[in-house]
Amino acid sequence: MAETPVIHVLNGPNLNLLGVREPHIYGHETLADIEQRCVKAGGGAKIVFRQTNHEGVLVDWIQEAREGAHALILNPAAYGHTSVALHDALKTLSIPVIELHLSNPAAREAFRHHSYVSSAATGVIAGFGANGYELAVQAALNLIRERP
Ligand code: DQA
Repeated sequence: MAETPVIHVLNGPNLNLLGVREPHIYGHETLADIEQRCVKAGGGAKIVFRQTNHEGVLVDWIQEAREGAHALILNPAAYGHTSVALHDALKTLSIPVIELHLSNPAAREAFRHHSYVSSAATGVIAGFGANGYELAVQAALNLIRERP
């Protein structure tokens, strides 16, 4: 039997407040709702779903993905716009990395237009709300399957 795909889904600062945080931008679903969407979209894949408000913890978790994860999905939230440390940690990975945003940062304030994560990512999904997480899991599964 083929190996069970393992996908790590990491979420950065303030995403613990989804559902109550600026719902006109980020929607009404909570992070727990979104985790359920990921599990469903994974269809049997192992989904390791985590959130932290701390940059160093995200770095630790990215490093952890070096062992055992087949793909990484990261919503870096605001740290995507500020963190060279996240970029450097992602560059140590040899698995597919999907950068994910609920909103479309390119269509928002200028300070959201640059991402330190994009240049270390395989691809970017942005602007599709909670549905973006399902799209990211599907993309991750395809990338895992297509890998030599
Ligand atoms: C976000 C977009 C970021 O600009 C913002 O700082 C967030 C959430 C998103 O999912 O749309 O916290 O990553």
